[in-house]
Formats: sequence, structure tokens, C-alpha cells
Amino acid sequence: MTESAQRVLVVVPTYDERENLPGALERLRTHVPQADVLVVDDGSPDGTGELAEKIAEAEAAETADGRSQRVHVLHRAGKLGLGTAYVAGFGWALERGYDVVVEMDADGSHRAEDLPALLAATDHADLVLGSRWVPGGSVVNWPTSRLLLSRGANTYTRIALGIPLHDATGGFRAYRATLLDDLTLQDVASQGYCFQVDMAWRAVRAGARVVEVPITFVERELGRSKMSRAIVVEALVNVTRWGIAERSRRLAGAFRRSRV
Ligand code: GDD
Ligand code: MN
Repeated sequence: MTESAQRVLVVVPTYDERENLPGALERLRTHVPQADVLVVDDGSPDGTGELAEKIAEAEAAETADGRSQRVHVLHRAGKLGLGTAYVAGFGWALERGYDVVVEMDADGSHRAEDLPALLAATDHADLVLGSRWVPGGSVVNWPTSRLLLSRGANTYTRIALGIPLHDATGGFRAYRATLLDDLTLQDVASQGYCFQVDMAWRAVRAGARVVEVPITFVERELGRSKMSRAIVVEALVNVTRWGIAERSRRLAGAFRRSRV
């Protein structure tokens, strides 16, 4: 299928992103006008959900040419985590027959101008990771502590799970819907940012074609990150657990083979 014939949905999770969301949606419209957007808001106290509704309505009125609405909004009752927000968004996309589903932050860190390269790569891949840690990729304006956390998390993930990915924790990526259909999303239990590793790991185990495309990640200028100690602990515990489970599976396999 040619790139332009694909139906693309960009899922944007939000929690208190009032200052950032309008600009992010505007840049998406400029750089990827063919894509629809689904904002998944967790009842943001700052009114991001209502603002998203207003943008969606204004754009629908503007187009008013029978073209289906470009921006949609899914409201959830409270802050239920990035992972579950994406699972809800992916279900929404699959029900509506999109071909490609994109993950993207609302705070401007993921540049809309990098998205066409990610979408182009879905021609030959099931999962395209926007990668900060391959040649050509970079991070702008992160403090050393955050750089170390990301490098450390990715190195640990690569070793613990034995996967050759350089940026399995990043949150700017494109999935072919057929892959999301294959992965059982209902039992994805990761609530926080380790959802990203969870999905990459599931994709690799499912035999999916995973590629990394360089991106420039630009730290937000407004609002604040929702990264927390609890999110880091969840990721560390889960990745370690998955790594141990994988090693025992391999050992059990080797043991069975040695007995035949
Ligand atoms: N709906 C919803 N619910 N959205 C959330 C939640 C939540 O509980 N937590 C965070 N978000 C939204 C934010 O509003 C933002 O749009 C996006 O998810 C990313 O959150 P940030 O808090 O800005 O993340 P970050 O910049 O610290 O982390 C980025 O890098 C991580 C790895 O290095 C993100 O891209 C992560 O996905 C990524 O794992
Ligand atoms: Mn951010």
C-alpha cells in the first residue's frame, strides 16, 4: 500500500498539557495533514480535555466538507497512567480500521517534522521506533540526570531482555495496526512508561519487524514531566521479571533439547 493511502491515527495522551497541546496539534496539521489525531485525556485538572474538545469542534467546523473529523478526544475519569491511556487509544483505532497507529507526546518533545520518516518506514516494518540513541538521533535540553536515566534504562533493557534495540523506552513510534491486532493488548499490565518497553518486547517476541529511525527529542519548555520514582521502579521491576522469565524459558528449552 502506498504511504498516502494509509489511514494514520496519532494517539496523544495528555495530563495537564493545556499550554502545549494547541501547538503540538498545529504542528501535526502542518507536517502530517493526512493523519487523524486522538487525544486521550485523563481528566486533567487544568482543563486540557475541554480545550481538546474545543480544538476538535473548531477544526470540524472549518473543514465542514463531509471529511470526517480530524481531531477526536477520549476522556478518562482520572490519571490512570500512560500505558493504559495508549491501550485505550489503540482499541479505539483498531475498532475504526486505521492502518497505522502513532504514539506521540503532547509537550512538543516529539517533533511533527520527524513523523513522515517514521511513517515511511512502516512500508517495511511493523513497529518503527523513533530513536534518540542511534546515529543521527539526539536529545536537546535534558539535564544530565535524565540523560543517564534514559541511557541506563536502555542499556539495562538490552542486556536483561537480550534485544538489539537502542531506544526501547522512547514514546514516539508507529505501529502497523496488524501488529497491534496480533499482540494481546488486554493483558498489557504496564501502567507507566515501562509500557514502551513492554510493547517493544512483545513485538520482538511476536517476530515483528522492528526498525529504529533517528529522531531529535526536545525537552518541553512548558509544564512539567510526569515521570516519577514509582514509574522508574515499575519499569525496573518489570524488565527484571521479564528478563528472568525469558532466561528460564531459554534454559528449559535447552534442557529439553539436550534430552532428545
Ligand atoms: N492520559 C495520560 N495519563 N497521559 C499521561 C499520563 C497519564 O497518566 N502520564 C503522562 N501523560 C502524557 C503527558 O501529558 C505527555 O503528553 C506524555 O504522556 C509524556 O509525558 P511526560 O511526562 O512529558 O514524559 P517525559 O518527557 O518525562 O518522558 C518521555 O520519555 C520517556 C522515555 O525517555 C515520554 O516520551 C515517555 O513515553 C518515554 O517513556
Ligand atoms: Mn515530556
